[in-house]
Amino acid sequence: EAAAEAEPRPPVVTVMGHVDHGKTSLLDHIRKAKVASGEAGGITQHIGAYHVETPRGVVTFLDTPGHEAFTAMRARGAKATDIVILVVAADDGVMPQTVEAVHHARNAKVPLVVAVNKIDKPEAQPDRVRQELTKHEVVAEEWGGSEIFVNVSAKTGEGIDKLLEAVLLQAEVLELKAPKTGPAAGLVVEARLDKGRGPVATVLVQRGTLRKGDVILAGREYGRVRAMFDEKGRQIKDAGPSIPVEVQGLSGVPSAGEEVMVVESERKAREIALYRQGK
Ligand code: GTP
Ligand code: NA
Ligand code: MG
Repeated sequence: EAAAEAEPRPPVVTVMGHVDHGKTSLLDHIRKAKVASGEAGGITQHIGAYHVETPRGVVTFLDTPGHEAFTAMRARGAKATDIVILVVAADDGVMPQTVEAVHHARNAKVPLVVAVNKIDKPEAQPDRVRQELTKHEVVAEEWGGSEIFVNVSAKTGEGIDKLLEAVLLQAEVLELKAPKTGPAAGLVVEARLDKGRGPVATVLVQRGTLRKGDVILAGREYGRVRAMFDEKGRQIKDAGPSIPVEVQGLSGVPSAGEEVMVVESERKAREIALYRQGK
């Protein structure tokens, strides 16, 4: 069987940075939603995955928590991504999880775009952020370096169009491609046990198309995709490259970061899953 031809695909962009620097608020503004204010204690505890239509095409965003307890989640986010938006609050400056996010992006060899946020605040010092980041070898273009910095406010919306522009430009340079047809392969972004729905996994499709009814293997779990939902909770029947979907029908809760692939039969999937479980 001939391999499917690679076609242009949307960029996957992960938003990272120190706790409360405004990652979710920035994404809310981009999506025109209100996630941040509905979160328990205003703290993001999981990876949120959203895709957004822009005039220049679809962009998929992964939101990550800035709390220090979530290092592994940020590392997984970096691995699943094409571009990192590093959010740094201009009133707070570079903090431990800012530096950690730089390291995650560098380790994953993913380009950065720096969003200097909360520029609306009177105490904002955007140039101090540029200064502090030079110590971590993130040097702004306007300072003779190669990194794009954009001053933004998730509160007023200032600079957000420019930020999106910078991200889309960066994505164009990367010439991202993946086959659209053929069996899907992807990654578990997050997963949980839902009381009513059983195991639910957010899967980022990376190649091919995932369809309702497909049999998938997700790490050591398997199952037939019983239902698929987009991030707004709408049922969908298929999802192509760079699209995140919530999948129901797995035998158990897979670990975030595990690979997902479509397998020809449930018998085969079960066999591999049991083998991986050491049974
Ligand atoms: P974690 O996910 O918990 O790490 O936080 P986060 O980075 O997602 O930050 P979040 O969006 O929850 O925002 C933290 C606080 O900063 C909230 O009270 C926001 O309203 C506020 N905030 C975010 N962006 C801005 C901004 O541009 N200007 C001002 N003034 N406040 C902002
Ligand atoms: Na927060
Ligand atoms: Mg958040």
